Amino acid sequence: MKKYLSASVMCADLLNMEKGIRELERAGIDYLHIDIMDGAFVPNITLGFDFINQVKRITDIPLDVHMMVNEPSKFIDSMALSENDILCVHYESELHIMRTLEKIKAKGIKAGLAVNPATPTECLKYPSELIDMALVMTVNPGFSGQRIIPFAERKVRETRELLDSLGKGDILIEVDGNISPENGMKLSKQGADIFVLGTSALFLKDCDIKDAAEKFRQVL
Ligand code: DX5
Ligand code: ZN
Repeated sequence: MKKYLSASVMCADLLNMEKGIRELERAGIDYLHIDIMDGAFVPNITLGFDFINQVKRITDIPLDVHMMVNEPSKFIDSMALSENDILCVHYESELHIMRTLEKIKAKGIKAGLAVNPATPTECLKYPSELIDMALVMTVNPGFSGQRIIPFAERKVRETRELLDSLGKGDILIEVDGNISPENGMKLSKQGADIFVLGTSALFLKDCDIKDAAEKFRQVL
């Protein structure tokens, strides 16, 4: 199965974004992971919808939008996304999450469902009819630079087993949070397909983006 690299844009140089995106294009990055926070679902605020829509105009790299907001259904129409982009919402963020996923699919966008570390894997079972990707959070969401949860490998394995048992082996599993080359290698073995690369693997002080991406690809 093909593996994908998704660059965590909040970890890039926010004052030189266009330059940063060109570097990510040269490094052959597969997705731009854009974290949207509301200061309520998670205790932080980062990037917003105007940013997304501007990025969309200057690059062909598909976006992988991670909505860490309450009631994400309110904001689906605020983003000019297209069929190759993924819009990912949290299981915990909405009472009728399947209605939100239906709304995303009706727009012709790929739908992702994210689960916090404490949320059981089984919650993916019924919504799996509507999703293209499952995002297994490997840290509690909200901040870069955190340490991976101890049961990340087990949770990714359980998720892969659940999806396979449902005949949904084509749903991609994304992992987000402290995805270093070492953690990425372990999670890849358990069935992860998309790797969110932030401060642990891509945006490093002593290594350029292209070399860091290449180094990460080699461990998968
Ligand atoms: C939260 C973010 C972070 C972060 C990933 O959803 O996506 O997890 O940017 O990068 P690390 O954890 O390596 O700093
Ligand atoms: Zn994220």
